[in-house]
Amino acid sequence: MQKILILGQQGQVAWELQRTLASLGDITVFGSGQLDLTNPDMIRTQVRSIQPDIIVNAAAYTAVDKAETESELCMSINGIAPGILAELARDSQALLVHYSTDYVFDGTKANPYLETDPTNPLSVYGASKLAGEQAIIQVDCAHLIFRTTWVYGNRGKNFLLTILRLAAERKELKIVADQIGSPTWSRSISEATAQIIAQCRHDRSSIKGLYNLSAAGTTSWHGFANQIVDRSRSINPELGLAIDLILPIPATDYPTPAKRPGNSVLDNSKILADFGVQLPDWKLSLEQCLQKLG
Ligand SMILES: NC(=O)c1ccc[n+]([C@@H]2O[C@H](COP(=O)([O-])OP(=O)(O)OC[C@H]3O[C@@H](n4cnc5c(N)ncnc54)[C@H](OP(=O)(O)O)[C@@H]3O)[C@@H](O)[C@H]2O)c1
Repeated sequence: MQKILILGQQGQVAWELQRTLASLGDITVFGSGQLDLTNPDMIRTQVRSIQPDIIVNAAAYTAVDKAETESELCMSINGIAPGILAELARDSQALLVHYSTDYVFDGTKANPYLETDPTNPLSVYGASKLAGEQAIIQVDCAHLIFRTTWVYGNRGKNFLLTILRLAAERKELKIVADQIGSPTWSRSISEATAQIIAQCRHDRSSIKGLYNLSAAGTTSWHGFANQIVDRSRSINPELGLAIDLILPIPATDYPTPAKRPGNSVLDNSKILADFGVQLPDWKLSLEQCLQKLG
């Protein structure tokens, strides 16, 4: 049975991967305690101790605003460590599966982003994730890089859980309405990853590709917040949310240390063509996630 190493143990995507990849191989999962991505020697020792056939790197420095003042740390985890994982994968003919982000783009394109569109990150986080992609591609190991976006789930830090907390405490919220994207459930990402890894079972060593992987459909942060509140109320009327009004505001009224793209929408046609994978519409997945939250 093939050996699969998952990095990022407590993370939104890594958590889901532990379940969805279980039927595909012997799973080992490391958190930052067992494998600290800032420590190259530890990365090498720990990966070699497992001798994985597939490394799934769902660990990352994801504090987008804090990254502006912790650029070295962010770059070491997101930019440098993926290259070390890639070298280890190349040396042992393993496949490296890695996640990246729409933040590699500046968001000025009028249409959904293709994998081939020019990158131009606006933030330290975006630049670090782009460096990670480039490091993997340069090492030239067998790899799959999935660029995803606006990830949420029922654990960890994300927009869904923040809105539910704020909506319980406050009567009014102001939410950015001029940034658009596709809210993507961590579970959908993990299920798509499993489907694709299953397809690569017989010919892992020649796989090389960068793919967009996001939910179908688009909305703004304001639209996402409205849907979270409306559907939560309907699924669980006992919730007793205090919120009366969610006001749309421009991003300029909500300044953050890191600049974010206005358009985060990704075109998913390449992953559909190559693997037959298509994530459900964001509203459908949100509904399922909210039902799990109860
Ligand atoms: N969240 C989003 O909206 C979003 C959007 C686009 C792309 N992505 C990408 O999708 C992937 C998964 O994101 P996610 O939202 O699941 O992330 P997450 O929930 O923030 O989890 C990230 C995980 O990385 C681990 N980590 C952080 N520093 C580490 C270190 N020095 N060594 C080892 N592990 C470390 C953390 O482990 P500890 O808890 O042990 O520190 C954490 O469990 C990432 O590549 C991310 O860049 C995310």
